[in-house]
Amino acid sequence: MAQRYRQKNFIGIDIKGARIWRGAKTINEEKIMNAAFLRIRMETIEKFFAANEVSEVWITFPDPQPKESKENKRLTSPLFLKRYSTFLQPDGIVHLKTDNKDLYEFTLQTVNDAGHIILHQTTDLYKELLMPVDMDIQTTYEKKYLAAKQPIFYLSFRLKKEI
Ligand SMILES: C[S@@+](CC[C@H](N)C(=O)[O-])C[C@H]1O[C@@H](n2cnc3c(N)ncnc32)[C@H](O)[C@@H]1O
Repeated sequence: MAQRYRQKNFIGIDIKGARIWRGAKTINEEKIMNAAFLRIRMETIEKFFAANEVSEVWITFPDPQPKESKENKRLTSPLFLKRYSTFLQPDGIVHLKTDNKDLYEFTLQTVNDAGHIILHQTTDLYKELLMPVDMDIQTTYEKKYLAAKQPIFYLSFRLKKEI
């Protein structure tokens, strides 16, 4: 994404150092000046961005946290959407790409229940006739799931004003 959109800034987030190291090595080697990384737990994300600072949040293949008791740990739970709302611009977009049907359905339900605005939803992204923009950019896990012929679920939405 950073290579495609040189005029925008991108910040990759993960808690695992090895993944941050891999990304940091690539941006150094390829002199990508508009990308950076944060090694943090997503639970603290709102401490790192100011109001209106972010235009899009891409949640790619997060841990699905299937146990009901872990619902608040899902990165698309109401608690997390509230966190994103503290720094997203008013017309900001949240994207979810996942291989996990239950997480996709949980997110769809969460978004509908709260009255957020769905922009795109699909249970099989690569079977869509009209792929949303930038869907050709694949993450490491996405490539693995595609190689295993698993469908990719995708949902994008705007948060309503007050949440
Ligand atoms: C299935 S991998 C997906 C990695 C990458 N986003 C992709 O699409 O290829 C899930 C990642 O989420 C990270 N992760 C899990 N829980 C996290 C949390 N609470 N905060 C930050 N990263 C977390 C893990 O370290 C792991 O790298």
